Amino acid sequence: MKTIAKPMTIGLDVERAAQLLKQGLLVGMPTETVYGLAADASNKDALVRLFSAKGRPTNHPVIVHVASVDALPDWAVEVPKLAYDLAERFWPGPLTMIFKKHAHVLYEVTGGQETVAIRVPRHEVALSLLQKFGGGIAAPSANRFGKLSPTSASDVEGEFGDAVAYVLDGGTCEVGIESTIVDLSGAQPRVLRPGMLSLEQLNQIEGLHARNRDEAASAPRAPGTLKSHYSPSTPVKLVSGANLDSVLSELKNSSKKAAVLSFKTKRDNATQQANTAWIVAPGDPDNYARKLYSSLRQLDNLECDLIIVEEVPSTDSWSGIQDRLQRASVREGDQ
Ligand code: TXA
Ligand code: MG
Repeated sequence: MKTIAKPMTIGLDVERAAQLLKQGLLVGMPTETVYGLAADASNKDALVRLFSAKGRPTNHPVIVHVASVDALPDWAVEVPKLAYDLAERFWPGPLTMIFKKHAHVLYEVTGGQETVAIRVPRHEVALSLLQKFGGGIAAPSANRFGKLSPTSASDVEGEFGDAVAYVLDGGTCEVGIESTIVDLSGAQPRVLRPGMLSLEQLNQIEGLHARNRDEAASAPRAPGTLKSHYSPSTPVKLVSGANLDSVLSELKNSSKKAAVLSFKTKRDNATQQANTAWIVAPGDPDNYARKLYSSLRQLDNLECDLIIVEEVPSTDSWSGIQDRLQRASVREGDQ
């Protein structure tokens, strides 16, 4: 009997991925932060396909990924000199910059705004795809709207199945949470989304003086800035290290099953109950971020009643992680 080979959906064929993008199809793309769901940023049909696969409202803008800083004038106008200083220092890398958009940038990319977000990712496979493809690649994180971002090729396949034509396997993401986003389109540089590139690091650029976005002053512009985002299906509760024991003791008397992500080891905690799953989190921010989404996925899959996450320090180097944890812990109904 003749068997027809199933097309391989995960692999390392960059040429094939570039061809699929040119045909208007969607490709899973590794980056150093998280996996992106890639589409041709100049093809309206491809972008419509992208939004529909993600289940994302069309007024939420996407980041355009480019091969190098040389592509900036193709997408943005009035690019300040500070942007080139930032690019020289941090690109390729986990930094997205927002500029006034070039007239040709499609509505589907900007969500109707006058600005466009650009990033050069620091991942060999992504850069090789960008070079082969030759244009800009729109790539939101490759998760369904509101869910955890994927940090491995199999996470992407699990999330979308057939809606993605091919997933490039670039291994596990080195950074682990989404890029830091800096808005350079206004009078004052503002960090719209914190990431592992901290405000302090950014402000090492002479003359930048970026500040965090004033949460109260601006309306939510995009999913990463909505209160509830990056959520596992299991409710997430943030608990301080000091309160962890008492929260767990309370649970002990209920029939609830909890999954815990904590800096402490389970053995150290005398009040532990048997039906508590436990992941010990790394104590330094880089390693914590690298493992954050896969740990939350793992705990989510256990189908417990609750995921308890020990709060992280409120310092600059933890700010991106703290932001994601806070968003993960807000339930949809809370907004
Ligand atoms: O690390 C990352 O940035 C990943 C990888 C794949 O590059 N991408 C990513 O894309 O996180 P996404 O779509 O999940 O988040 C993009 C964020 C939006 O939430 C929004 O905050 C911001 O980019 N954004 C895009 N265009 C914007 C614009 N014109 N103005 C303001 N924010 C914008
Ligand atoms: Mg996202």
